Amino acid sequence: MRRTHRCGDLTASHAGQHAILQGWVHRQRDHGGLIFIDLRDRAGIVQVVFNPEITPDAHKVASEAHGEYVLEIEGPVSLRPAGTENSDLPTGAIEVVAIRAEVLNPSLPLPFEVSRDADLDESLRLRYRYLDLRRERMKNNIVTRAKVVKTMRDYLDERGFIEIETPILTKSTLEGARDYLVPSRVHPGEFYALPQSPQQLKQILMVAGLDRYYQIARCFRDEDQRGDRQPEFTQLDLEMSFVERNDVLELMEELYIRIAETCSQRKLMAKPFPRYSYEEALRRWGSDKPDLRFGVELVDLSDEVGETTFNAFSAVLAAGGVVKGIVAPGWASLTRKETDALIDQAKQFGAKGLVTLAVEADGLRGGAAKFLSEQETGRIVARSGASLGDMLLIVADQPLVAADVLGRLRLEVGRRCNLIDDNLLAFGWIIDFPLMEWLPEENRWTFMHNPFCSAIVMDADAIRANPGGIASNQYDLACNGYEVGGGSIRIHKPEIQRVIYELMGYSKEETEASIGHMLEAFEYGAPPHGGIATGLERTVMLMVDEPNIREVMAFPKNQSAQDLLMNAPSGVDERQLRDLHIGLHLG
Ligand code: AMO
Repeated sequence: MRRTHRCGDLTASHAGQHAILQGWVHRQRDHGGLIFIDLRDRAGIVQVVFNPEITPDAHKVASEAHGEYVLEIEGPVSLRPAGTENSDLPTGAIEVVAIRAEVLNPSLPLPFEVSRDADLDESLRLRYRYLDLRRERMKNNIVTRAKVVKTMRDYLDERGFIEIETPILTKSTLEGARDYLVPSRVHPGEFYALPQSPQQLKQILMVAGLDRYYQIARCFRDEDQRGDRQPEFTQLDLEMSFVERNDVLELMEELYIRIAETCSQRKLMAKPFPRYSYEEALRRWGSDKPDLRFGVELVDLSDEVGETTFNAFSAVLAAGGVVKGIVAPGWASLTRKETDALIDQAKQFGAKGLVTLAVEADGLRGGAAKFLSEQETGRIVARSGASLGDMLLIVADQPLVAADVLGRLRLEVGRRCNLIDDNLLAFGWIIDFPLMEWLPEENRWTFMHNPFCSAIVMDADAIRANPGGIASNQYDLACNGYEVGGGSIRIHKPEIQRVIYELMGYSKEETEASIGHMLEAFEYGAPPHGGIATGLERTVMLMVDEPNIREVMAFPKNQSAQDLLMNAPSGVDERQLRDLHIGLHLG
């Protein structure tokens, strides 16, 4: 290699050595005589000094170089003169005194600055992603991502897992999102689907006897974009045979502790990770992926207002609903306008309304206060623990709606009141989910996690009798308000698997067409098995404290699922469509 060192690796211990460096002009400062260039490569930045008196040729090259030119420079590494050291820079004790310089490639003027972390228009960043990725923060995110993957591979390898690839061209499955389809040229009118996850194949690998499978698996889901969702993303996917729930949880917990302790500056809030039932998570935090870094828990006020004449509460209670609330510390001082905005927000979250009660010296203030008796307000305050200056936010609705709305308002309160410690990673397991959930509009049951999740009691009659009440073997890993992963101990008996599809409203024929291959495989000595998948991007987001999934992917899609660098999706040649037996009917 022509390069003798990497820019960012040089320290005082290299002083006196001769260096040949290649890298980008990060910054150039012309001091009239001396020119200083900060030269950058992946390892970091080093200062190079050009003296017109001693090396006029090199100085001329430096004077003509601009931001992001690629240079090769050569010269001795030298301790910086006393007083000019830069303690902010790992290489700040030294500089390279250029005796020769050469432009390897110039750069056009930049669409945005690479040398500074600034808020930039995201479409510009995505269009010029190769420049965006040169920025320190982005580079660090990508490097951390690689480190996380390496930690996963090393850890699982130590524990006897083997990495197996599953196909990208596969069959449409029932994962809950829309599939990306790929038309077949050789089979007119037929399609492959890109995998939403390797779920079925990893279970089939267990039947194949390849116990302890893992894969850094690419998954595709055509669903609405969010800050933590991409159409194409990566999972750490794994499956094990002859295990119980606790085996999977302990394995993953140890892995995530290792990842956090080696790939993040943030500190783990609790080790071992606490475990909460789905019921408890919803009851206390209004979410099955609670942010455990702060309190502001939901309080059930149904009993306190059980006898109320206030119709908004009594009607809901009579209809089997609940009255629940949270206390926003110090929010009694919100203006009328701010309170109205909060009510609007609650409605956007799905509430019919929001009762706000400010705790003031002479009692409760708020639109609903006059409808509540003094006894009732007294009980509400006592039960919720609200103090003078706080505001009670109360939602009366069906239990799941009330939990969801208050869970989201809770996050808002946490953020606005600065209750959330950004330095923490608060992992927690959510367990004991119900097996199935009723879809009233469709008049059928659906799975909570995926249709392969087993019930704690593996009995067909018990499952049929109470699909929504029977606890499942599903577990989710939550952290700081994100769902990091989910998995389950699976069904390994075909007759139980058939019951689930029956409850989902599938006919025998539909079940065969959908998962006949799995049911058949289960007839040939399927071992009990279970596994989990965690989102790699979400894991990295948490490790580097980025609020958006796009910041931890080299080439993400934008909000409208477009790749702005390559310009995809894009039209294709008429001939390609003909080959695929496709005619376009654009509306
Ligand atoms: P699930 O659908 O819960 O489970 O996905 C597992 C984890 O994958 C991540 N994830 C996503 N990340 C980014 N963008 C998306 N669109 C996206 N969708 C999911 C999340 C999520 O927790 N086969 C099962 C796992 C199993 O049962 O073993 C599965 O895919 O972090």
